[in-house]
Amino acid sequence: MNLNILVLPGDGIGPEVTREAVRVLNRVADKWGHSVSLTEALLGGIAIHKTGNPMPEVTARLALAADATLMGAVGLPEFDDAPPEKRPERGLLGIRKILGVFANLRPVRAYASLIESSPLKNHLVEGTDMIIVRELTGGIYYGTPRGISGVGAEERAVNTMTYTRAEIERVSRMAFHLAQARRKKVTSVDKSNVLENSQLWRRVVIEVSAEFPDVALEHILVDNCAMQLVLNPRRFDVVLTENMFGDILSDEGAVLAGSIGMLPSASIGGRRPSGAWTGLYEPVHGSAPDIAGQNKANPLGAIGSVAAMLDYSFGLKEEAAAVNRAMETVLNSGRVTADLRPAGRPSTTEEVGEAVAAAL
Ligand code: IPM
Ligand code: MN
Repeated sequence: MNLNILVLPGDGIGPEVTREAVRVLNRVADKWGHSVSLTEALLGGIAIHKTGNPMPEVTARLALAADATLMGAVGLPEFDDAPPEKRPERGLLGIRKILGVFANLRPVRAYASLIESSPLKNHLVEGTDMIIVRELTGGIYYGTPRGISGVGAEERAVNTMTYTRAEIERVSRMAFHLAQARRKKVTSVDKSNVLENSQLWRRVVIEVSAEFPDVALEHILVDNCAMQLVLNPRRFDVVLTENMFGDILSDEGAVLAGSIGMLPSASIGGRRPSGAWTGLYEPVHGSAPDIAGQNKANPLGAIGSVAAMLDYSFGLKEEAAAVNRAMETVLNSGRVTADLRPAGRPSTTEEVGEAVAAAL
């Protein structure tokens, strides 16, 4: 198979972790006889510095032409005071929207060898295995009206949380389909005791659930969900939620996995102009400018995102499973980066990438 992939290294630790993810991808291609065509483009802060635009037009065009896109991270401190439309993050929101990848899948697993890396008590964390399905191209991130207007005491900021029935239906179906192949339980997260937006969300999720009689559905309010995630994480199988709630809850999930550097993600559901499916694969972590360029960052979130790409974009299940197994082998061997607080000397980003490639 020929894998035609766009790489967007982005900012901060993005280039370091994507380099290791590409190393693993090339190893898979060698071993299973696939060919990889890699193209690289600018996104985020680096794109603003080089072109003035967080998502240059050529980047959008290349993403639409690729079979799949691998992204590192975006965000740089020098843009902290910039308005949203001039920030690196806008590039990422733009690429998600242009690819139409409405479902962001964020698996959260507590690996046995990382139990000690979580600050939570072992008996709470053990056995955690959930996937957060975060709606990715709607909600308050994209809703209009938005903006800041007025002056003095009357200065006012507005954002709009908006969802259509169709947007809720398609991401819900994705969650129920995933649940059918897992423990057959969907937990839908909302704030329906306060927000009309959540009332529609809950109503539509219930309607969609009728198509999946073999899957159990429960509803939970987002504040309670935040608590249950650390009190009783094993109760969750598939967690279905809107864009901003999913952003917040998935960072909390990182505490269960031992480090946010562990979490991969797959953003799927989009189609290209040709009608072919596309996907965007990105670790959950940010650009971590404080450790950028130091060969310290954990590449496993990015490498896990390659495994997800092989699975969801190319249907290469065997290869994807092999990457996941290789990651586990490396975790069990204790060769992990500093964020996972290893007993011995922490490994570098590059050493972890090489170890995963070698385990393959
Ligand atoms: C994430 C990130 C992004 C988001 C930022 C960088 C725009 O936090 O992917 O979780 O909020 O979606
Ligand atoms: Mn986030």
